[in-house]
Amino acid sequence: MAKKRTSAYVCNDCGADFGKWQGQCSECSAWNTLSEVRLGVTRPGAAGRAGFAGAVDGQVAKLADIALQEQARIPTGFGELDLVLGGGLVEGSCVLVGGEPGAGKSTLLLQTLCGLADRVDALYVTGEESPRQIAMRARRLGLPVDKLDIMAETSTETICATAQARAPKVMVVDSIQVLHCDDISSAPGSVSQVRESAAQLIRFAKQSGTILLLVGHVTKEGSLAGPKVLEHMIDCSLMLESSHDSRFRTLRSHKNRFGAINEMGVFAMTDQGLREVLNPSAIFLQRGEEVASGSVVMVVWEGTRPLLVELQALVDESNLGNPRRVTLGLDHNRLAMLLAVLHRHGGLMVGDQDVFVNVVGGVKVLEPSADLAVLLAVVSSFRDRPLPQNLVTFGEIGLAGEIRPVPSGQERLREAAKHGFTRAIVPAGNVPRQAIEGMEIVPVRKLSEALEALY
Ligand code: TYD
Ligand code: MG
Repeated sequence: MAKKRTSAYVCNDCGADFGKWQGQCSECSAWNTLSEVRLGVTRPGAAGRAGFAGAVDGQVAKLADIALQEQARIPTGFGELDLVLGGGLVEGSCVLVGGEPGAGKSTLLLQTLCGLADRVDALYVTGEESPRQIAMRARRLGLPVDKLDIMAETSTETICATAQARAPKVMVVDSIQVLHCDDISSAPGSVSQVRESAAQLIRFAKQSGTILLLVGHVTKEGSLAGPKVLEHMIDCSLMLESSHDSRFRTLRSHKNRFGAINEMGVFAMTDQGLREVLNPSAIFLQRGEEVASGSVVMVVWEGTRPLLVELQALVDESNLGNPRRVTLGLDHNRLAMLLAVLHRHGGLMVGDQDVFVNVVGGVKVLEPSADLAVLLAVVSSFRDRPLPQNLVTFGEIGLAGEIRPVPSGQERLREAAKHGFTRAIVPAGNVPRQAIEGMEIVPVRKLSEALEALY
């Protein structure tokens, strides 16, 4: 009889597991990321199966015969958080809220839970701060404190037993890295502790229908045993990120079994805790009275809504044999391609110039609708002529110099009009059938037309 495996080696980065130790993970090619995990009584798969009625081991049913329960959603009180979650918290779901220390995870969850406690039973389990610290913070922020239950605990078994007895509807565990299971000897925060603790909590949540919000720290190197190994166990993974030490925080979902991913919520950290930013375009658009050359405003698409962001380019004579092409917030290869198109189809040669392109506010733009804005900014900087302040643009550029339409053109134009822009250079295919009030739309089919329309 084959010997039963008692331990496995798990990659801290990608979560792949192996029977033997090896220096390099063969899944993600990272070095020295494998650490030993003791296989306890609970296997990760068990957590996933529990709680799905009709899927008992060994029984097969027709998909059509599975009774569907209406998935009740509980609004969190934060519109931005609901948006990222796909419309509120789903019963029995497990949500991981990740982020670097100091991002504001505890603050966000404390504010959410204090608000929720009025409507449903809520329990806040803290393993990092004392209840007094949390109470002080809640009072200082002026949160309603009389309904929320709080417990300071780091033993996973005790947390599960207490939660079983009190049956809260929503439970926060802050954070997964400080929990420990009795039957595992390694230190809290190690892969085996994190995995086993999460498996126990998730199994409890699935069986009881409790909504579980887990906090997970990610270090800058991402090397700590953490959210990565959890990602396949949980239903939804949110990341709270701050860009450039600013007071703004963006919340993104990287995985969501109950909604769309890549939705973005924006918050501001104030002395009164986190506040939602209802008009994100406004914060990314703080331009001075005078616009410098190389700056242009574009409309990008974030999840399900348009966002106005400023793009800056700097074109400067290079003294290097290989002039620099630097992008921040944009794809580096795409810039090289666009500059080649500019040369061939726009007649502008920047081969002897350094080109730097930056999306202001730390926004990352992944869609090609930024193409036209990139080239207009480059041309503006090269000629050292500022673009008109009321100008907004978007559009994809093809290798033949053609300007291609992008999705949701009309919504993008409306958003721009709402923020007072009065002139838009857009792909001809994106011109709306109905005129948009106060907005002059300049349709362009080719790059050369766009350059002519500039000044
Ligand atoms: P915290 O929620 O403790 O972060 P995390 O749990 O992600 O580690 O909050 C961290 C930072 O937020 C802290 O450095 C101070 C700041 N902060 C404010 O600026 N205003 C506030 O009202 C609060 C509560 C925190
Ligand atoms: Mg915290």
